[in-house]
Amino acid sequence: MAKPKRIGILTAGGDCPGLNAAIRGVGKTAIVKYGMEVVGISSGYLGLLENDYMPLTESSLSGILTLGGTILGTSREKPFKKTHNLVNKKPDLIKENYKTAGFDCVVCIGGNGTMKTAEQLAEKGLNVIGLPKTIDNDVWGTNQTFGFDSALHIATDAIDRLHSTANSHKRIMVIEVMGHHAGWLALYSGMAGGGDVILIPELEYDIQAVNKYLKKRAKSGKPYSIVVVAEGINKPKDISAATYIAQEIEKGVGIETRNTILGYIQRGGSPTPLDRLLASSYGAYAVDLIAQEKFGQMVMREGDTIGAIPLSEVGGKLRLVPPDHHLLEKARGLGVCLGK
Ligand code: F6P
Repeated sequence: MAKPKRIGILTAGGDCPGLNAAIRGVGKTAIVKYGMEVVGISSGYLGLLENDYMPLTESSLSGILTLGGTILGTSREKPFKKTHNLVNKKPDLIKENYKTAGFDCVVCIGGNGTMKTAEQLAEKGLNVIGLPKTIDNDVWGTNQTFGFDSALHIATDAIDRLHSTANSHKRIMVIEVMGHHAGWLALYSGMAGGGDVILIPELEYDIQAVNKYLKKRAKSGKPYSIVVVAEGINKPKDISAATYIAQEIEKGVGIETRNTILGYIQRGGSPTPLDRLLASSYGAYAVDLIAQEKFGQMVMREGDTIGAIPLSEVGGKLRLVPPDHHLLEKARGLGVCLGK
């Protein structure tokens, strides 16, 4: 009888709803389908540096499907990051700890930075599988990361709520959603929430054109306007996107304007059913890859099909909103202002 495989799981980078569903998908599939041993690694890659582990069993994995956050904890530890002029011993320490722990593979659940580190560990000879997660939906190589759908629901609900207060006060309301590099969350929630102006990092905007559009709306008798901006749009460094845009609008349009920064609320709470399904499917597929000893892969989705691509092709690359994305064309057709 071959010795059962012993796999580690870590969650790294910004947290999001669905992480525990993914942990459960990996862990339960490994135990139930393949009789593997499963070990939780604390706080992302930091846990590998500090040998900070916890056994995961069917009972410890029970009841976490709907739980927000991650039972393993997370960190933004980047073990390959250059540290001044000192020799960086972290990658070798991780390799040594990986061997001492007797891991056959480590499932790395995270965003761009996590996938980049996973690829670098694979190059050092570790068996790793990446699972793409982030509310930003900007991991290259998959058409959706889990966490995005849950954040989309939260952001859309917030935008829905702004309509009534904007209407009561005849105001312009500016809401900032997350998305450091990519505008997926702003574009999707802006369209789903009936935003009049949607600004994303991928598209340059002209605040004069935005103000002209808002003035025209007011002149046509529209009682209020909703402006949705991604946190990563072009703006002065020392001010948030929402505050900056709200100030510029109030100054330029002359209508009372308020702003809301949704922030970390988009990263909290229970995952939506779709995120539970996506995270569980990614996790289960990762274990099938491990059973087939197909390492160095990132699990992904193309259309409705779950598959895998080499981490060497992903390597922390960003998936940005392309200028010809169909939603942009539809937004323009609906009369939404995208900044120009
Ligand atoms: O990567 C997801 C994300 O939520 C971004 O949208 C946001 O800019 C960033 O993480 C915030 O990072 P932190 O949680 O380290 O403050």
